[in-house]
Amino acid sequence: MDARVLLRRYLEQRRELGESELVLDALNVEDVMRLLGATGRSVAPTETRLSVRELAGEQSDDWRTALHDAGVIGDTPIPGPRAAPTPAETTRAPSPAPNKRLAFPPEPIGPTNAAEPADEIAARKEIVAPRGIVVAPRGIVIGSGEAELIPGAIDSLDSLEAIARQVKKCTRCSLSATAINPVPGEGNPNAELVCVGEAPGAKEDETGRPFIGQAGQLLTKILEAIDLPRDQVFICNVLKHRPPANRNPLPEEVEACSPYLIRQLELIKPKVIVAFGTFAAQTLLNTKTPLGQLRGLIHQYHGIPLIVTYHPAALLRNPAWKRPTWEDVKLARRILDSSPRS
Ligand code: URA
Ligand code: URA
Repeated sequence: MDARVLLRRYLEQRRELGESELVLDALNVEDVMRLLGATGRSVAPTETRLSVRELAGEQSDDWRTALHDAGVIGDTPIPGPRAAPTPAETTRAPSPAPNKRLAFPPEPIGPTNAAEPADEIAARKEIVAPRGIVVAPRGIVIGSGEAELIPGAIDSLDSLEAIARQVKKCTRCSLSATAINPVPGEGNPNAELVCVGEAPGAKEDETGRPFIGQAGQLLTKILEAIDLPRDQVFICNVLKHRPPANRNPLPEEVEACSPYLIRQLELIKPKVIVAFGTFAAQTLLNTKTPLGQLRGLIHQYHGIPLIVTYHPAALLRNPAWKRPTWEDVKLARRILDSSPRS
């Protein structure tokens, strides 16, 4: 495709998402240079199109290679090995070691309020994992971790099966009238990591299982790349019934359905939650902040670390988001690795 069209489409997507940073690695450097009229000093194509394997070098057993093998990152450059953190870096999210040949995603964006309260800053400093692994700055904090999350009937459902049975007969919104099957979620009831998506799509509606279509297959690969077989985690969505023609969830549907998700999280008590896409992130964090600004931070959902990343369906449309997604899921993996064994 013409670089101009590609670039324009990409910029429109970024604007739609409210994201100000550019992650241009899905575009061909030469094409964009030509587009900008900077044709004179060209970079040799071999330098800009190094394969993941070439860059990974001896560390062929690391996660980046695993992700590549899983087909999650294509033949695009990847960050070099991470340098050991210096004390000054401990309040920042990890960023890849410099590698002049490559344009990396910029530093994650910090909290949106310019003047941070002192305790926020203090909290960030504490977020250094036991083994000295640097994680990320603190993001939005929802709830205390002790309070009862929601009152009433759904709150008294005492197992994931009971939630699934209730979802099956749920008429709290009108989606049950148009959907074929409820999709309550599936996986390990003792999962350490819970994946939350938006809503079932066509395949999910047909089968009653979450994330089994194209986006779901990508999600499965992403999980495998951080050593989490799909059946080890719990996978669900904000909405438990498919919106007609995959339209966006309506606020009243989110309001009606989210108590099920809240109760699922309360019962599972995972060590980390990964919100895939804008809807999951904004619903769980009760915010309208764009996804691009929620990424790169460790939020707290009732005491549980919550990471925000792109929706796998968005990655299928825009491969440039695969790398930041990779950084996000690695962060989730590091949180798991540094949390106490149970
Ligand atoms: N997209 C989602 O958000 N959830 C699914 O289960 C499938 C696709
Ligand atoms: N579009 C989505 O549906 N989700 C994202 O995360 C980004 C774009």
